[in-house]
Amino acid sequence: MSTLRLGDKAPNFDAQTSQGKINFYEFLGDSWGILFSHPADYTPVCTTELGAAAKYKDEFEKRNVKVMALSVDGVESHMDWIKDINETQNTNVNFPIIADEDRKVADLYDMIHPNADDTLTVRSVYVIAPDKTIKLMITYPASTGRNFEELLRVIDSLQLTAYKKVATPANWKSGEDVVISPSVSNEEAEKLFPKGFKEVKSYLRMTPQPD
Ligand code: BEZ
Repeated sequence: MSTLRLGDKAPNFDAQTSQGKINFYEFLGDSWGILFSHPADYTPVCTTELGAAAKYKDEFEKRNVKVMALSVDGVESHMDWIKDINETQNTNVNFPIIADEDRKVADLYDMIHPNADDTLTVRSVYVIAPDKTIKLMITYPASTGRNFEELLRVIDSLQLTAYKKVATPANWKSGEDVVISPSVSNEEAEKLFPKGFKEVKSYLRMTPQPD
C-alpha cells in the first residue's frame, strides 16, 4: 500500500456490501463519490453518523454525489445494525456499507491507523471527482462524529472550482462571495464573471458566487 494523496487516482476495488457485491468504479459511474469509514457496527457515534448520512440523501443527489460507507464487520452484522440505525435515527439507510472483514479496502485506503487502533478503521473521508481523482481527505478519531454540513460545504467548494474557476475563502458558505482563481487573468474574469468582481489586491479578487 502506498500512501494516497490529493490528486491521486482513487483505487478501484470489488467488495461485498450491504447491497450485494459492488465494483467501486461501476458504482460511481460519472458521479462524484464519498467513501467513508467508521470503526465498527453497533457503536453509538457511528449509529448517529450513518443515520445523518442517510438523511442527506437529497442533498447528495442534488450535487451528483454517491455515498459508500465501510466498516470491518460482516454483511449480516451490517444488515441487522441498519435496522437499528433506521429505527433509532428515524431514517432509511440508502447507501451501501462495505463489509470489509479482511480489511482489503481499509488497507487500500489507509483507513487503519495502528497507533490509534490496530484493528478498527478511523473515521476517514475521501471525496472523489468524476475522473476518479481524490479531491479531499479528512481523518477524524473514533470519538468524534463527522459534520455532514461541512462535507456538503467542501463538495460545493470543490464543484465550484471544477466547473467555475473559483476558489472559496475562509469560513465560506454557499451563497457568499468567492475568490477568483489566480490562474484567471482580469480580462478573462470580465468574461467569466458577468456579475463583476472586486480587486482587493491584484492577487485577491472577489466575485459573487457564480450560478
Ligand atoms: C462510536 O462509534 O461510538 C465509537 C466507535 C469506536 C470507538 C469509540 C466510539
